[in-house]
Amino acid sequence: MASLTIRQLDDRLKKLLRLRAAKSGRSVEDEVRTILRAAADEGSDGALPEAAAPKMTRRADAAPQTKRVLLIIGGGIAAYKSLDLIRRLKERGLSVRCILTKAAEHFVTPLSAGALVGEKVFTDLFDPAGEFDVGHIRLAREADLIVVAPATADLMAKMANGHADDLATAVLLAASSKILLAPAMNPLMWSNKATQRNLAQLAADGVALVGPNEGEMAESGERGTGRMAEPLEIVAAAEKIFGATADKPLAGKHILITAGPTHEPIDPVRYIANRSSGKQGHAIAAAAAAAGADVTLISGPVNLPDPTGLKLIKVETAREMLNAVGHALPADIAIFAAAVADWRVANAGEQKIKKKAGEKTPELSLTENPDILSTIAHLTAKRPTLVIGFAAETENVIANAQSKLARKGCDWILANDVSPQTGIMGGDNNTVQLVTADGVERWPTQTKQDVAAMLVARIAAEISKS
Ligand code: C5P
Repeated sequence: MASLTIRQLDDRLKKLLRLRAAKSGRSVEDEVRTILRAAADEGSDGALPEAAAPKMTRRADAAPQTKRVLLIIGGGIAAYKSLDLIRRLKERGLSVRCILTKAAEHFVTPLSAGALVGEKVFTDLFDPAGEFDVGHIRLAREADLIVVAPATADLMAKMANGHADDLATAVLLAASSKILLAPAMNPLMWSNKATQRNLAQLAADGVALVGPNEGEMAESGERGTGRMAEPLEIVAAAEKIFGATADKPLAGKHILITAGPTHEPIDPVRYIANRSSGKQGHAIAAAAAAAGADVTLISGPVNLPDPTGLKLIKVETAREMLNAVGHALPADIAIFAAAVADWRVANAGEQKIKKKAGEKTPELSLTENPDILSTIAHLTAKRPTLVIGFAAETENVIANAQSKLARKGCDWILANDVSPQTGIMGGDNNTVQLVTADGVERWPTQTKQDVAAMLVARIAAEISKS
């Protein structure tokens, strides 16, 4: 079958197509499909039928509940922070699209922003090289919130006066969703009467504002008001606009989490243990509770304060942990972060084993503990919808995690290298890789709290699909 390349059509036809696409809110490619379909349906003699009534199309990858943020990066030194902002927005389960202004391209590249967004970054009002021109109307329509960060004095002036001479301003003019500005500029530009006039106009138009903050400017020795708000402040402002539902994406979900080590008695005073601190599991429990989940945390012995706002069940041994997990079911999601002892002492003493002069050193006979994760993942009746395990490895991390995923029957594995030199066991940071049936995703080295927040955001995004 012959292939059609839009780029090779003559300019008049291309222009016509783009105008039609913009009018109907479709990409140029979709517009061509619509025309061809309509022609086929009507048994057309070749004349191009009128475009059908504009139809709102959703991105296939965006579940209806996933909030869509369109981030417009303006041209300022603070643009580098917007790369982190993309990461922070995505961590919270938001879908992110990105536009770079021409000036922004002096500070960050479409390649770096695109790598973080995970899709093409938009830069041109009309993309002569692109057959998949999404169009400014569609970009504007397919956003629940438009964030402009950094919002330069120039962008604000254009917005206040309704200019639309590039992609960013055209989208802003076509927007019906809420707009959040994170201004960043030199303090003198910020305090200038023209900027303040534009700001007043934008506020009157219903545009929301976060920052600018006071502090050291990029120009050496300068201080004042004009620093862009930090990425997490911008995220908080965005979440506030989305309302409580974005704050509590796990509301109504029961999440069961195991954490910490288990202690396997040798006798009433001695036990076998491991170096797990329980920090990661407790952090996940706190993050899930903060996201509105009803959390049951089943924890082995740890030196951590008892968390509040959730149900805590303290256990010692692997068998007690399995028993507690069984009683806590049903759950929507189960996360097995505990470092469960693989073996227990089969011949544990009822009384303290005494050291007697001249007597043989006692031998410990070990027997296997139940595998809690595998048991729950293989349940038929009460299996949680999402079963997540951890794989703490000291070698062949991914290969071992992948075989564990299959062997244990869980849905996701968070794999980490716990070789002593990593400092992960007992430490405050963690470097994990998310292993699923779809592939492996490397997460940055970050605090255990940040790993927890990222996991909760991923879970929220996953359950919003179903
Ligand atoms: O087999 P391995 O111990 O490496 O598997 C680690 C994963 O399995 C972790 O999620 C851990 O919580 C879980 N596990 C378990 N019960 C066991 C052993 C491991 O739930 N007895």
